[in-house]
Amino acid sequence: MLEKIKQMLAEVDSLQAKTADEVEALRIKYLSKKGEITALMNDFRLVPAEQKKQVGIAINELKNRALERINGLKQACATQDTEQDDLDLSRTAYPIDLGTRHPLTLVKNEIIDIFARLGFSLAEGPEVEDDWHVFSSMNFPDDHPARDMQDTFFVESHPDIILRTHTSSVQARVMERQQPPIRVICPGRVYRNEAISARAHCFFHQVEGLYVDKDVSFTDLKQVLLLFAKEMFGNDTKIRLRPSYFPFTEPSAEMDVSCTICGGKGCAMCKGSGWLEILGCGMVHPNVLAANGIDPTQYKGYAFGMGIERIANLKYQVKDLRLFSENDVRFLREFEAAN
Ligand code: PHE
Repeated sequence: MLEKIKQMLAEVDSLQAKTADEVEALRIKYLSKKGEITALMNDFRLVPAEQKKQVGIAINELKNRALERINGLKQACATQDTEQDDLDLSRTAYPIDLGTRHPLTLVKNEIIDIFARLGFSLAEGPEVEDDWHVFSSMNFPDDHPARDMQDTFFVESHPDIILRTHTSSVQARVMERQQPPIRVICPGRVYRNEAISARAHCFFHQVEGLYVDKDVSFTDLKQVLLLFAKEMFGNDTKIRLRPSYFPFTEPSAEMDVSCTICGGKGCAMCKGSGWLEILGCGMVHPNVLAANGIDPTQYKGYAFGMGIERIANLKYQVKDLRLFSENDVRFLREFEAAN
């Protein structure tokens, strides 16, 4: 009997259980009415009198150790269970501040949204371009001084590989692979070799629009731009078009909107004029259509292009252009509400 108790002591001390059910099974095995330890205790009456004391102590110890072990396992399982309930594997290990969309992205998305509602789809093209898509196909003759309007960055001193100076290159890429009707909006980053200051940067962002179809008129252009201005700056916004020059459009115009601050009365923002210049536009030059494989006797088009920084400035009165590319979170957080 003592031998048996000794064996069971070792057994009990090394009991293992992973779940509450397993613990309960152990309790039943050893300590229930029909359990092994209970059986030993029932057998106690058969123990010879001279051994009773020793065996009694041993059985009690076995019973206590079994209780202790099984209760210990029970508790371990219980805390494990609650830990498992609390376990959220999708939680981050430490608090991470959520970022916000960059103000230029906000404005870009807003512009794209407005034109998407008018049926314009999105088109994109490479920032490292060739001369053809940026200049030649856009009706800039080889030695035309108009190329000087946009100070170009050349890549690896190759005269043909450049950083695009405007997103008009995307117009060319759309026209060369698609026949009219074409209705696209092309957002993207552009580069010009300019000294960095509060008012100029060597890169900035543009959104360009292109519409090519039969019977497209300047009136269509003006109406679409008026609608855009009202959507972007509010329903009371007025527009005015001033004659201008671009090699790729004829006639060309620059568009002003009534001042977003004073509404046209004249203030510091509009330098007293009541108007703010926001974009260039015009009817696509027949040479541009022809150069890109579209028959100018059948089709006409209009195009417009605007700087996203400029629009963002007008919307949010950001005085220094450099803030847009410095990624100072204190600046970026100011746009949290607009996100
Ligand atoms: N590409 C011109 C620029 O960068 C903007 C523009 C686009 C003007 C389309 C007219 C038509 O200045």
